[in-house]
Amino acid sequence: MNTILITGANGNIGSYIAEYYASKGDTLHLLYHKSDERLLKLVNAYPTIHYQTCDLVDLQQVETACAKLREASGSIPEIIIHTSSKRSTDFAEIETSSPELWYEIIKNNLFSVYNLLRVNLPLMKEHDYGRIVLFGSNVSRIGLPKGTAYAVSKAGIVNLVRSVAQELQDYNITINALSPGPIQIDDSHFSEEYREFRKRYYAKELNQIPKKRLAELDDIIHVCDFLTAENSSYISGEEFFVTGGKL
Ligand SMILES: NC(=O)c1ccc[n+]([C@@H]2O[C@H](COP(=O)([O-])OP(=O)(O)OC[C@H]3O[C@@H](n4cnc5c(N)ncnc54)[C@H](OP(=O)(O)O)[C@@H]3O)[C@@H](O)[C@H]2O)c1
Repeated sequence: MNTILITGANGNIGSYIAEYYASKGDTLHLLYHKSDERLLKLVNAYPTIHYQTCDLVDLQQVETACAKLREASGSIPEIIIHTSSKRSTDFAEIETSSPELWYEIIKNNLFSVYNLLRVNLPLMKEHDYGRIVLFGSNVSRIGLPKGTAYAVSKAGIVNLVRSVAQELQDYNITINALSPGPIQIDDSHFSEEYREFRKRYYAKELNQIPKKRLAELDDIIHVCDFLTAENSSYISGEEFFVTGGKL
């Protein structure tokens, strides 16, 4: 059994991953942000889950939330699965995209990782153990027209992974990026405009996926299990694509 810290725990993917590991009996430290409907269902079903809200962009909030989780559970995270992320939602080409939103997405998607690692790596180093999985996206490889900030932030995560893996060479701590293509998820909570954007984008993607289907959440879990296994100690600094064979 492990102690697993999961960010974006109210998100589509974060909540699914959390439920999977809760059902296996792992100790969960869940971080969520503003919305909490999935998280509350989860903690009702698994009352031993530890959870805290925080804005991952705020270092002080991350420090406090993680300290409270450690105190409540009496354990430190051996595994971190970082799913939280902000999307480009203005669907605009770069020269007409909102500079405020561009800045927000870059800040959100990169500083959340920085803060998470800054707070948790010293503890992992002290115990000489850690398995870290940061969610990227296949847009790090193919780009995302009308979504440049998101695409740039995901590519940034990949180079952070490559750099930090080298900083961790003397420790039994691995860090990797998991970069899925489009995933079959419940999109009912998205705005009408974003659902339309997704529909168009996913239809185009589906045509190009050799496996002829979108990723299922279980395809993602499978890779999380692999990357967080104790014996995956030789795999670090990599980006793992889950794209049904699409390059
Ligand atoms: N879904 C896909 O098809 C797909 C494809 C490729 C890659 N991915 C990647 O997979 C990951 C999970 O995707 P998803 O579909 O589960 O996304 P999601 O449902 O939008 O969940 C993202 C979560 O991140 C949280 N979050 C955003 N900013 C935060 C902040 N500053 N501090 C703390 N939490 C914050 C959000 O909380 P609030 O809503 O309360 O702000 C939300 O619960 C993301 O990294 C995404 O880029 C997804």
